[in-house]
Amino acid sequence: MRLLVTGGAGFIGSNFVRHALRAQRDLELTNLDALTYAGNLENLAELEADPRYRFVHGDICDAALVDRLMAGQDAVVHLAAESHVDRSILDAAAFIRTNVQGTQTLLDAARRRQVARFVHVSTDEVYGSLGAEGKFTEASPLAPNSPYAASKAAAELLVRAAFHTHGQPVVITRGSNNYGPYQFPEKFIPLAIANALAGQPVPLYGEGKNVRNWIHVADHCAGIWAALERGRAGAVYNLGGDDEVDNLTLLRRILARLGRDESLIRFVPDRPGHDFRYALDSALARRELGWRPALSLDEGLDRTVAWYRANGAWLERARDGAYRSYYETQYRARLERGQEARP
Ligand code: NAD
Ligand code: TYD
Repeated sequence: MRLLVTGGAGFIGSNFVRHALRAQRDLELTNLDALTYAGNLENLAELEADPRYRFVHGDICDAALVDRLMAGQDAVVHLAAESHVDRSILDAAAFIRTNVQGTQTLLDAARRRQVARFVHVSTDEVYGSLGAEGKFTEASPLAPNSPYAASKAAAELLVRAAFHTHGQPVVITRGSNNYGPYQFPEKFIPLAIANALAGQPVPLYGEGKNVRNWIHVADHCAGIWAALERGRAGAVYNLGGDDEVDNLTLLRRILARLGRDESLIRFVPDRPGHDFRYALDSALARRELGWRPALSLDEGLDRTVAWYRANGAWLERARDGAYRSYYETQYRARLERGQEARP
């Protein structure tokens, strides 16, 4: 199979590229990635010598490049995106360009080149927020609340339209919150681990009561692979982990694993429009794809904390340069106010 992966130098993408090359011997995989702040070729360093793997540095909005790369592909797994809610609140422009325009550019080329399979990797955030009860099914309405989630919902609607209008063989996956190795330390779990390892306070938004449905990235990648192999054209599959936990409880578990004191917890002013709870009903993926997550949050956190401990150099490089100015913008004023906001 000839497979084009977009965003393969990012967190989930690099885990997926590794998963795919392990899952199928007879694979020619092209990884198209623009290497934004979130893309890192270090994540795939051990694959440089693998003749089945090729990296192309480029933008999914570059129609000529995308068209050229699409020729002869059997399938696309589309992961490239701007992916962080807080950054979309600071400035949404790149989210619209990459997530919306980039997705349409890929769909157009895939249609012209008659690619037999197009897996679009989306997120549970397209559903918006839940209260304390219930779970989202694939039939739940789309009600995105952040600019990130809205751009992902817009992308999905274009994928849906490609199926209904042009009969393109697309499959959409909606994953819940991922964690695991190679996650950029802007996201909550690696940010908490990185700060705690450095003895720095960990900013917890609001009262820390928001709930997320966590899935280890290895389980998510297995679900995306199953959707590629067995997904029904036009179908949407939720890929949720088994564990739900509020942010304060999660942070306590991380600190305990690192042997750090809870005095590092710093309650800071909330994220605007902060979704209260996400939870996915993944029965359809279990039934039709034969997929289920294998790792509990406890096991996954053990592994993830161990990975970040063992990869201090990777983490320090990720936290260098542009990350510092992002961190200042995002957290400095919050942390100053947060000192007094502690309940
Ligand atoms: P990430 O930010 O770690 O990686 C994104 C990758 O896309 C980077 O390598 C970046 O360089 C690349 N990229 C960005 N703009 C590009 C462009 N214009 N052209 C080519 N490449 C570009 O993101 P992630 O957390 O690995 O998420 C991957 C995908 O999975 C995204 O589509 C995201 O919406 C989705 N998703 C993420 C989660 C999660 O919890 N992280 C959950 C569900 C779904
Ligand atoms: P995040 O990793 O940004 O994922 P998402 O917003 O896509 O769910 O955040 C996970 C949860 O952690 C979310 O409820 C926001 C919260 N959070 C904090 O409390 N502090 C932080 O510094 C960050 C980045 C997130």
